[in-house]
Amino acid sequence: MRSALITGASSGIGAALALALADPDGVLHLGGRDEARLAAVAAACRDRGAAVHTCRADVRDERAMRAWIATAGRERRLDLVVANAGISAGTGTSGAESEAQARALFAVNLEGVLNTVWPALDLMAGQERGADGRRGTIAAIASVAAFIPAPGAPAYAASKAAVDAWVLGHAPAARRAGIHLASVCPGFIATPMTAGNPYPMPGLMPAERAAAIILRGLARGRARIAFPWWMAALARAIGALPAPWALALLARQGGKPDFRGQGLRDPR
Ligand SMILES: NC(=O)c1ccc[n+]([C@@H]2O[C@H](COP(=O)([O-])OP(=O)(O)OC[C@H]3O[C@@H](n4cnc5c(N)ncnc54)[C@H](OP(=O)(O)O)[C@@H]3O)[C@@H](O)[C@H]2O)c1
Repeated sequence: MRSALITGASSGIGAALALALADPDGVLHLGGRDEARLAAVAAACRDRGAAVHTCRADVRDERAMRAWIATAGRERRLDLVVANAGISAGTGTSGAESEAQARALFAVNLEGVLNTVWPALDLMAGQERGADGRRGTIAAIASVAAFIPAPGAPAYAASKAAVDAWVLGHAPAARRAGIHLASVCPGFIATPMTAGNPYPMPGLMPAERAAAIILRGLARGRARIAFPWWMAALARAIGALPAPWALALLARQGGKPDFRGQGLRDPR
């Protein structure tokens, strides 16, 4: 029996995690904003026997997130919360990102994670310990982009660096409260988020494989799940170089499309 809440479950990694967790003993609370895609993921999870509840909560809405997580936890002990929802954009063809885009990225990728993780920590602190000795597990999806300064996607990489550093720094306090808090740093995963990237994506892997790696790492109690390992090692090595060298190397990659290049309003 497993009860999990996942933000950004209407697409990509979040949808793959939901499907991987869907079984007849499972209760899933799935969040996202696109009603049709969220309903399709929920239906696929129900086909696997899981009980599924959906919520169209925007992770930027602190009060709505706290209310959703509290309600989900009232029905049955929440074993797992995944703060997965995120957006990405870069400098596009202009070579610089706008202030509005940078603020939008931090609002979803950083504040959205805080709006998910804090209510989950508060809820789980009041739960009984399970068979694994934990009151619950919380994962926040950062990125290997957290390890580098990224001239082609400055706010995206910075938002992920903040998530990774905060989660790792807060993990010992969470552990003392009986909660496993983990940072997840994937490399390139084949989802709508990466579909429009105009540059090579070494190690690109399907979302289903990423979901399996994440769930295995969480079951093992890892504090940081960074994969593929060689991509994480490379990113950390580049990030450890003197800044001008790292920036010169990374500038060759070019920019991820900006919001407008993705056909999105700026800010989204
Ligand atoms: N793909 C990669 O290579 C990669 C690598 C490293 C890390 N990541 C991270 O993994 C996470 C999932 O990304 P993905 O690749 O699966 O992207 P995706 O397919 O674009 O999915 C993003 C999800 O986030 C949701 N979302 C976006 N803004 C939201 C908001 N304000 N409120 C609630 N939900 C919101 C989307 O829901 P709606 O569409 O319904 O709004 C969607 O379900 C992100 O945090 C991303 O940064 C991805």
